[in-house]
Amino acid sequence: MTPPHKTNGVGVQAGDTQICVVMVGLPARGKSLIAQKAQRYLKWLSIDAMVFNVGNYRRQDSPQPGADFFDQSNAEGERMRRAAAEAAVTDMLKWFAKGGVVGILDATNSTKARRRWVKERCDAQGIETLFVESQCDDEDIIMSNILEVKTTSPDYQGQDPETAVQDFRKRIRNYEKVYQTIDEEENDLTYLKIMNVGKQVIINRIQDYLQSRVVYYLMNLHIKPRSIWLSRHGESEFNLEGKIGGDANLSPRGEMYARKLPELVRQSVGDDRPLTVWTSTLKRTIATARFLPENYNQLQWKALDELDSGVCDCLTYQEISELYPEDFKARDEDKYNYRYRGGESYRDVVIRLEPIIMELERSENILIVTHQAVLRCIYAYFMKKSQADSPWMAVPLHTLIKLTPKAYGTLEERYDAKIPAVSTWRGKGSVAKHEDPNATTDSIGKADGAV
Ligand code: ATP
Ligand code: F6P
Repeated sequence: MTPPHKTNGVGVQAGDTQICVVMVGLPARGKSLIAQKAQRYLKWLSIDAMVFNVGNYRRQDSPQPGADFFDQSNAEGERMRRAAAEAAVTDMLKWFAKGGVVGILDATNSTKARRRWVKERCDAQGIETLFVESQCDDEDIIMSNILEVKTTSPDYQGQDPETAVQDFRKRIRNYEKVYQTIDEEENDLTYLKIMNVGKQVIINRIQDYLQSRVVYYLMNLHIKPRSIWLSRHGESEFNLEGKIGGDANLSPRGEMYARKLPELVRQSVGDDRPLTVWTSTLKRTIATARFLPENYNQLQWKALDELDSGVCDCLTYQEISELYPEDFKARDEDKYNYRYRGGESYRDVVIRLEPIIMELERSENILIVTHQAVLRCIYAYFMKKSQADSPWMAVPLHTLIKLTPKAYGTLEERYDAKIPAVSTWRGKGSVAKHEDPNATTDSIGKADGAV
């Protein structure tokens, strides 16, 4: 049985469901991007998910094919493409047999016959299928997709970008000759159709909880350029004393950070565009955000409150190690899953942050002023940090982090307010009040250099 302080396995209820998400769409319709994002989101929620990209299988035999390779009258091309699809589906089914939960088949799956074949293969193994079609007839979006990701794809590496664009457009035309959109003839399928990046969506036969989570997430995605700013609150009186949790006021240096924050934000935004600000309901984040311009909308979220440390609230790590030595040790052994008595684990925090992530995906420019543990969880989602590493990340006070999602990956910039603050980072086994994450050489307790 799981000990009471462990939260392993608690989270989104996937039950016994196994789903194959089958991407459908012409080239340059964002299928791979959608597939990657779904995988990142599910893994963040501890749901085992994996993308099977047929293009990667095809590249093993045919690394840089010209557009003619994708012409249906090219028998050799057809044979190789069929073999790549077969290999990807076979690997995916093996992965499901080992317990995988959401397998994402990333390919054009552009004909009814191909979709039927995938469904039959999955049915035979008791795997549900969810078809996700991305349709887009907005020429500007298609062209910018080609320029943004296709000219730099391994299919065209080392080639002249202009020739690559021409060839890719010809490849799309070859696909268009045979492409069949999902229509009423396929109404027995479970599917989501996303038209022109979510301007319109059609949902058909969604059956269970996990399918509806995936569909809801995908419906909320957009591709407008935007950034997300993350900051911890200014240094608090509890931070000075090395106490955790509580609802303390800002220290004098924390106040200085609050006053400096508007300038720091303006500097990183680059103009006077207003941001929407989300804080927690605790005094220290609200106080930190209070000098931001009046035209910034502010919203307080209970979900952004710091990890609840239960009976350890308002104690120092030294006191916790004396009063609850076993708990102190257990937390260091598995910090992600350790749940404070009467409080929360990092896993619990991730689950309560899910609506925040959903809202962030729907939104544009947001500044979040929150707490150390919560910031680590949000950061882990965007930067794909593992559950083992994220609770140990060093997130300095008085630093603004700007994250800008790009087609593949998230760009990170940091703005240091240059206002000194104590460090609240703690290495494994340590009870120090303030420890310098950069001074630690021991690889076990070492702060993660990425933050
Ligand atoms: P291919 O079939 O060649 O692999 P693809 O459909 O997988 O193409 P991606 O490589 O994912 O296309 O294209 C990424 C681009 O698609 C990004 O520039 C991204 O902004 C854009 N994009 C993301 N979602 C959508 C969408 N729903 N519709 C159109 N474009 C999108
Ligand atoms: O010390 C500041 C703080 O925000 C505490 O309120 C919270 O309990 C702690 O950080 C979370 O960090 P860790 O998970 O490393 O103990």
